[in-house]
Amino acid sequence: MAFLVSMGGFVFGYDTGTISGILNMDDFLRRFGQPDPHTSKYYFTNVRKGLIVGLLSIGCLVGALVAAPIADRIGRKFTITFWSLIYCVSLIVQISATEKWYQVAIGRLVGGSGIGALSVLVPMYMSETSPRQIRGALVCAFQLFITFGILIGNLVVFGTHKKQNANCWRIPIGIGFVWPALLGGGIVFLPDSPRFAYRAGKTEIARKTMSRFYGVPENHEIIHLEIEEMREKLEAETVVGEHPWYEIFTGPRMAYRTLLGVALQALQQLTGANFFFYYGNTVFQATGLSDSYETQIILGVVNFAMTFVGLWVVETFGRRKCLIYGALWMFVCFMIFASVGHYSLDQNNPTMTPKAGAAMICFACFFICGFATTWGCIVWGVVGELYPSRYRALCMGLATCGNWIFVFLIGFFTPFITEAIEYRYGYIFAACCFAAAFVVYFFVCESKGRSLEEIDTMYIMRVRPWQSENWTPPVNEDLKKIYKFY
Ligand code: BGC
Repeated sequence: MAFLVSMGGFVFGYDTGTISGILNMDDFLRRFGQPDPHTSKYYFTNVRKGLIVGLLSIGCLVGALVAAPIADRIGRKFTITFWSLIYCVSLIVQISATEKWYQVAIGRLVGGSGIGALSVLVPMYMSETSPRQIRGALVCAFQLFITFGILIGNLVVFGTHKKQNANCWRIPIGIGFVWPALLGGGIVFLPDSPRFAYRAGKTEIARKTMSRFYGVPENHEIIHLEIEEMREKLEAETVVGEHPWYEIFTGPRMAYRTLLGVALQALQQLTGANFFFYYGNTVFQATGLSDSYETQIILGVVNFAMTFVGLWVVETFGRRKCLIYGALWMFVCFMIFASVGHYSLDQNNPTMTPKAGAAMICFACFFICGFATTWGCIVWGVVGELYPSRYRALCMGLATCGNWIFVFLIGFFTPFITEAIEYRYGYIFAACCFAAAFVVYFFVCESKGRSLEEIDTMYIMRVRPWQSENWTPPVNEDLKKIYKFY
């Protein structure tokens, strides 16, 4: 299940890993770029480049928003198949482009909706289906596959970039069919999430699914316990009656959690990770590593390898500690990176200051280690655990939009900002990392080892986040009282 479903992350990562390389390919530039009258070379204007890259994030945003309501109606698994198909259609649109750049851009807009939708649905399906002991690690497997996708994407474009015909970009795009086909086709053979099944009145199916995924017989205590928890939650929720959509702001402790999810996702981007993924090659050039394709691979390997460590730390130390220390670590890395870049590096002639360049590369790698082991994976997991079932789909969609908006903003504005304040840009990310540690300390409850229902109760009861690790859940009757209160 983890392998198949993580293909959702792979689709997302593979796209990230290929697009920067594709944009620099000669044949791609010749067909979709503009001729430079002075050098007779082809290039992309900032706007055209921005649209080809950026429209994907806009598509993602839309996909992330509309995926949720559909998933609530027809279930998680069929929507995953549907969006995988949409993504395949978008690849056909891109591959068949011959000279119209906007065909590629529109293809990416459509493809983005598929990626955005999958980035909501896949973590949702996983957090609703996996046993609590490994839920954090499983959801992190989603991130592992994003990073694996980035790395494979980097390698594929590295392998094709020297071809002088359209195959150089058509092959990487074409290989992109494999992942959604595996995901959309494979998930048909998996059951829908037990929490979705239970809410649709299919208790027996929910029980069977849980027994299958938890690896225990249907009459095992843990299954009784969790079904019982789902029943109590549903019962307690129905005491309150109908639930209109705006309850994601007015429901019990919902405004807090909705905003927290959006903030966490936005902060994940504001840590500055994509500054390195999109613009790392420029930085790495400072040490004489001039082939940008190789540079991307180095970043990709560090990112991928360290995500394995992330899988282990999240279940060993818990979400809060990892996020707080991870943010502080990234803060330090960016402070050093920005200071060395601004004060020590000879920006006009970086080869004159090789030590400064080397230090910057080290700290970029240290940063990526910090990101990959903590914020890269844990945020997706925490957002999947934050909401009660009836709001989960919509809230996760909104939170994921927070991520996509900042992917777009950072991707689009970075060239303009670095032009104005060069490496001091790093101080902005450092400040955001510092703020991120505060947000987690004061607002995020520890969810390691808790059932989704317990996490919900923890927020409703206003457990202080910094004391949440040692909190004991109330018994049934108290739970009903808590709900009646709202
Ligand atoms: C982020 C992406 C980023 C990737 C890098 C993900 O969690 O959401 O924007 O490119 O990590 O590994």
